[in-house]
Amino acid sequence: MSTPVLTAVAWPYANGPRHIGHVSGIGVPSDVFSRYMRMSGHRVLMVSGSDEHGTPILVQADKEGLTPQQTADKYHREIAEELLGLGVTYDLYTRTTTGNHYAVVQQIFLALHRNGYIIPKTTTGAVSPSTGRTLPDRYIEGTCPICGYDGARGDQCDNCGNQLDAADLINPRSRINGEVPNFVETEHLFLDLPGFTETLGKWLSTKTDWRPNVLNFTRNLVEDMRPRPITRDLDWGVPIPLDGWRDQPMKRFYVWFDAVIGYFSASVEWARRSGDPDAWQAWWNDPAAQIVHFMGKDNITFHAQIWPALLLGHNGQGDRGGEPGPYGLLNLPTEIASSEFLTMSGSKFSTSRGTVIYVRDFLREFGPDTLRYFIAAAGPETQDVDFTWEEFVRRINFELANEWGNLVNRAVSMAHKNVGAVPRPATPTAADEQLKSLARNAFGTVGGHLERSRFRAAINEAMRVVGAANKYLSDQEPWKLKDDLVRRDTVLHTALQVVKDANTLLTPFLPHSAQKVHELLGGTGTWAAQPELREVDDLDIAGRVNPVLTGDYTVEKARWESTPIEPGVPLNKPTPLFAKLDPKLSETGPEWAPIRG
Ligand code: MF3
Ligand code: ZN
Repeated sequence: MSTPVLTAVAWPYANGPRHIGHVSGIGVPSDVFSRYMRMSGHRVLMVSGSDEHGTPILVQADKEGLTPQQTADKYHREIAEELLGLGVTYDLYTRTTTGNHYAVVQQIFLALHRNGYIIPKTTTGAVSPSTGRTLPDRYIEGTCPICGYDGARGDQCDNCGNQLDAADLINPRSRINGEVPNFVETEHLFLDLPGFTETLGKWLSTKTDWRPNVLNFTRNLVEDMRPRPITRDLDWGVPIPLDGWRDQPMKRFYVWFDAVIGYFSASVEWARRSGDPDAWQAWWNDPAAQIVHFMGKDNITFHAQIWPALLLGHNGQGDRGGEPGPYGLLNLPTEIASSEFLTMSGSKFSTSRGTVIYVRDFLREFGPDTLRYFIAAAGPETQDVDFTWEEFVRRINFELANEWGNLVNRAVSMAHKNVGAVPRPATPTAADEQLKSLARNAFGTVGGHLERSRFRAAINEAMRVVGAANKYLSDQEPWKLKDDLVRRDTVLHTALQVVKDANTLLTPFLPHSAQKVHELLGGTGTWAAQPELREVDDLDIAGRVNPVLTGDYTVEKARWESTPIEPGVPLNKPTPLFAKLDPKLSETGPEWAPIRG
């Protein structure tokens, strides 16, 4: 059955290029999932974009002497190029500074406000004594009142993951110049989270099949919900569409409030660009649709608590009820596929600590599929993973090149050299049948894992087919069958059939090389589609052009099933699929990210 599936990918801050940690938990897994779902016949809409508001962008803008918009423009484009290089098949990768996003955020806010889930409150905000300017939470550092960690920021503690109020930090100081901020009274709008205690709790209690890291986090989430501020004293962000707020230059929505709405606003933008402005309804209003979120573990609160509360409030389905907002009854998340962190030598990947492997450099030297393979096979799916060059070299040389690359090369070369085409098989033996059925059955097992976002288990099962096919060739020794060409051709036919099936099973993970294998086997046309970067006019702001990622994935031929190879189809002489890496790389790392001794 074809289900509408929305792949909702966390929006990266447009404050710098991506490192491999960023794409390990989010970019690659979400693309593997989307490709598999499309191959299985589902209607996939994959959306995300650059998160361009908030202090992360302001901090970077200050560092580079740019305006926030210039900073966002620069890094939005860079990130889009990196995701393009990785082959992430977004239907729309957009940004939060579009006219469409601003309008949708304001509509959702107004629905929450009408339904009574927004409360104004006077709070204390930090001001820098030396400049008199407000000091955003993120610029403040101190000791976490919950876990005692001394590097906590005013908005969040990276050690325990809790959201904080800067005023609650113990021993607060400015991260800019170390001075102790003054705390003054300021008016803000709050999301009335306690007004969702029952409804959110009831919804969360149905989510028993979520990943353990998400369940652990959400279990206690609703027990102590307090109102959460959704505005900030900032001049960079979406304006607040209420009298008395609208024209205040220093009041904007908090970046997280506007960013999570991005999943929905990007769907609306995609629909508007598709020629059918209501097309988003298939994913957001049809209760049969699935919405699957991909994010790092530090984002769970926003996806499992805040975003569902915003949706319930818009829908008029919080504890105090209300009327559905302008978008009708919007679907809540089906799945929260939250990943752990990719670390290097024990420390979280972080630009400030200098241990950075940039996606751009990686793609230039090793191409997209080696990184995709590594992430799927050894990424931070269920626990933090320490990236080492040694492990990368081992995985690529011994698994990808020796196992998969070699199988393709052996099977296709022999058939090409001896027959020139896909050979005609005679009656199969038990060994032939066994191998072919192992490959056919793998579609069910691998697919079952991918549906549940279990990428590591999925790729291991797919690679088991590759291993079995290599063993089959070694056992059958077709190169020794010079006196029994009928048998030789049957063996080669069997091997090619399993290469084709294995290639299909590996397509979501290795789409670039899957296209090559498709062509080696005599196939034509697009097997695995790739995204493109387009410059499009902003739909609402005259004169603004935005680079976006998009693509037509309906042209893709790959289907999640075993398809018979046809005897007589001419074969091409193979060139190696994957270059072997120099083993020295394990010890030295590449020049642009050397291992420090
Ligand atoms: N920019 C945020 C981060 O990097 C993630 C935003 S996800 C969204 O942590 F839901 F807000 F879009
Ligand atoms: Zn803490």
